[in-house]
Amino acid sequence: MKKVVLGVTGGIAAYKAAELARLFVRGGADVHVVMTEAAIEFIAPLTFQVLTGHPVYVNMYADRSGEKINHIDLLEGTDVVVIAPATANTMAKMASGLADNLLTTLYLAARCPVVVVPSMNADMYEHQAVQDNIRRLSEYGCHLMDPDAGELACGVYGRGRMPDPLDINAFTRAVLRPKDFSGLKTLVSAGPTREPLDPVRFLSNPSTGLMGYALARALKERGAEVILISGQTHLQPPAGVKKVDVTTTEEMFDAVFGHYKDCRLVIKAAAVSDYRPMEVSQQKVKKNNDLSTIELARNRDILMELGKEKGDRILVGFAAETEDVFENAQQKLVRKNLDLIVVNNLKEPGAGFAVPTNRVSIIDRSGEVENLPLMEKEELAHLILDRIAGML
Ligand code: CTP
Repeated sequence: MKKVVLGVTGGIAAYKAAELARLFVRGGADVHVVMTEAAIEFIAPLTFQVLTGHPVYVNMYADRSGEKINHIDLLEGTDVVVIAPATANTMAKMASGLADNLLTTLYLAARCPVVVVPSMNADMYEHQAVQDNIRRLSEYGCHLMDPDAGELACGVYGRGRMPDPLDINAFTRAVLRPKDFSGLKTLVSAGPTREPLDPVRFLSNPSTGLMGYALARALKERGAEVILISGQTHLQPPAGVKKVDVTTTEEMFDAVFGHYKDCRLVIKAAAVSDYRPMEVSQQKVKKNNDLSTIELARNRDILMELGKEKGDRILVGFAAETEDVFENAQQKLVRKNLDLIVVNNLKEPGAGFAVPTNRVSIIDRSGEVENLPLMEKEELAHLILDRIAGML
């Protein structure tokens, strides 16, 4: 996302658009703001000018500095137009092709993706006329983001609030992703498995599911159908992903194999417990039982079993290592019949469990190792998909 035109219309949420502009700029985009006359009643153009480093355009014929502006020039090289907040009035004009200000004129001429973020009073939002306009804008190819429900600035509760700028930023980035996994049936496993000892205790590991959820979201953004088999986590599943909750390794095994037949790509990011207690007490084990050893039974290796029935699927595994990192990972890749293995050295700062970042190496079947720098798991997820896309 190199160039963004941010359209701001006259709603109370216009103040949040300043934060959005900042996020776009921080993400490396060149941001040009176009406001309607009504918007400047809510927030000063100077705010956006300072945040973006560019003049703000309101009028069709001249910017605030008196320089002439042509809407076509403004669109030159633009990757995306984002209209946030979008009032009922501006959406009505857009839906009927009215071009009576710079923003609506620009919309008609835009050939890049257009993101529209409606924001208004809940009763207005529900009105049939507004809903019809939203539907029409979708039909015209705009990417509509649903407003949030909650307390609105006008004091009522309902749906109409402009979403958090962070979410609008993520939505916009998702719109711009290549749809190179379009229609592909995929399965991602994520999070830890838990093996109960008794009703209140279990064996597990510190996985939070962040990496697997990031992969599921990235796949969805790139057009895939995604089944997310998830151990216990506190994460919200990405929108549009089918989530199957499991607790133990055996449950994960059954869930994964239950969906394996239809999937072309399987990414096993779950941190699976290799052992389970031989006996599970139905009652809480009391401390005066003098328990000093727990006998363990080995769990089946899900990925290994998947590898035996691989067919023409792509199988991607993870490896968490603390020593002989590459040798161990490479052996896992061969033993489990994988196409790629993503290995993290748990001793590296910022890598591994329960942190938003990871530092990994990717190893392919030919043994080639790609060492990647420390990065956010979201970014890493897309990078892993870039490598997989090359194999499809
Ligand atoms: N895995 C699995 N089923 C298991 C254990 C692991 O599907 N019972 C998968 C993980 O989801 C991961 C890969 O296998 O994609 C490697 O997991 P890891 O824990 O690093 O390796 P293990 O095979 O368990 O080997 P070890 O514990 O000896 O390192």
